[in-house]
Amino acid sequence: VSSSVKALRGQIVSLRGNPFLHPSAECLTHHPDGLVIIADGHITAAGPWETTAPLLPAGVTPVHYPDHLIMPGFIDTHVHYPQIQMIGAYGEQLLEWLNTYTFVTEQQFANRAHADRIAKIFLRELLRAGTTTAVVYCTVHPQSVEAFFAESARLNTRMIAGKVLMDRNAPAPLLDTAQRGYDESAALIARWHGQGRQLYCVTPRFAPTSTEAQLDAAGALLRDHPGVYLQTHLCENKGEIEWVRELFPERRSYLDVYDHAGLVGPRSVFGHAIHMHEGDFCTCHARGAALAFCPTSNLFLGSGLFPLDAATDPARPVRVGLGTDVGGGTSLSQLQSLNEAYKVVALSGGRLDAVRAFWLATLGGAEALYLDDRLGKVAPGYEADLVVIDPKATPFMAFRSDYCTSLEEQLFTLMTMGDDRAVRATWVAGECVHDRDAA
Ligand code: GUN
Ligand code: ZN
Repeated sequence: VSSSVKALRGQIVSLRGNPFLHPSAECLTHHPDGLVIIADGHITAAGPWETTAPLLPAGVTPVHYPDHLIMPGFIDTHVHYPQIQMIGAYGEQLLEWLNTYTFVTEQQFANRAHADRIAKIFLRELLRAGTTTAVVYCTVHPQSVEAFFAESARLNTRMIAGKVLMDRNAPAPLLDTAQRGYDESAALIARWHGQGRQLYCVTPRFAPTSTEAQLDAAGALLRDHPGVYLQTHLCENKGEIEWVRELFPERRSYLDVYDHAGLVGPRSVFGHAIHMHEGDFCTCHARGAALAFCPTSNLFLGSGLFPLDAATDPARPVRVGLGTDVGGGTSLSQLQSLNEAYKVVALSGGRLDAVRAFWLATLGGAEALYLDDRLGKVAPGYEADLVVIDPKATPFMAFRSDYCTSLEEQLFTLMTMGDDRAVRATWVAGECVHDRDAA
């Protein structure tokens, strides 16, 4: 028996289609008593116990999670690891918040030992929340990226991250230059992109903190290194948008600033994108770019309501993933992101059902990142990144759960009431990396 074969038994809940394009009921796969078999970090079989158990190699005993939900690990498409130490910073909107808290905190990451410590805590908390893949901002310091990828490589998590590029409008210790930013990013790409499960993301913070020369250098990084990602912030806050208009008067829109530099394409992920025009959505659709919906942050910083239904309009759907945006966001739990996402959509006059919600947190995120051939499903061939959810994690949840009459209701109340306490276990590439009930 290969020692790398593992198996999990429980309820399997997985998305198989996009519920923004197809009826939700057709998009969910559910095996009330299911079995997942894993070999060498990949799922080799997933299905009902009766038909899948015969495929178990002799000597392999499944880890049994009775009545728990085995789901694809959550995907967080926008988060800042250096900001976990300032989560819940009081009382400001975006631009004041950046100056008062963020740019002060991020200066500490010049110190590699500090970066190592925070990266470890961040990834531990991410796994405790059931998130197995994230698109992560480091700081301007290359050592902050080294610290992050080193810990991610140790855990064998599939992470996408990059060094922040900023060459103006921030404190001097946080500034690089267009050339230095290019060189340091290129060196990090050579060292980390495609190294094991790590993927690199070119990361100009946002238009106000980069000169046009630096945005062009970011475009050159994408052209010179096919397959790397691009992340930045877009149309988050009214004051920010006005500032971009003043800084780039010759561009038609905020998105056009990035487009002009060649930054809008497949594997581009734009955080927030709240105050968008129809033309912006059309451009993102045409280019295959993705938006990160960050509900807890958009509410906490008073930024606005992301127009999810407009973004996902089947006439020209834009790829959308779910982001926590910690420290602007207030929780690393994607269950809590979905709790707030539902309210954001409700305030916009729409509805976010549980199937759409969990799609955003799993397969939708994978599609946004062009990783839906390997992440986001509990299915053969997929990487074995799994979250095991306990629907009865607290006495109140157990009580509420007894009144659920459908899987959809169970999932919906889970996102309303759930957080890291509901994460019974997290598996990464076929290894259990978090067990809530272990001593
Ligand atoms: N815009 C530019 N930088 C940031 C950041 O760190 N967080 C958020 N939410 N928005 C930004
Ligand atoms: Zn952000």
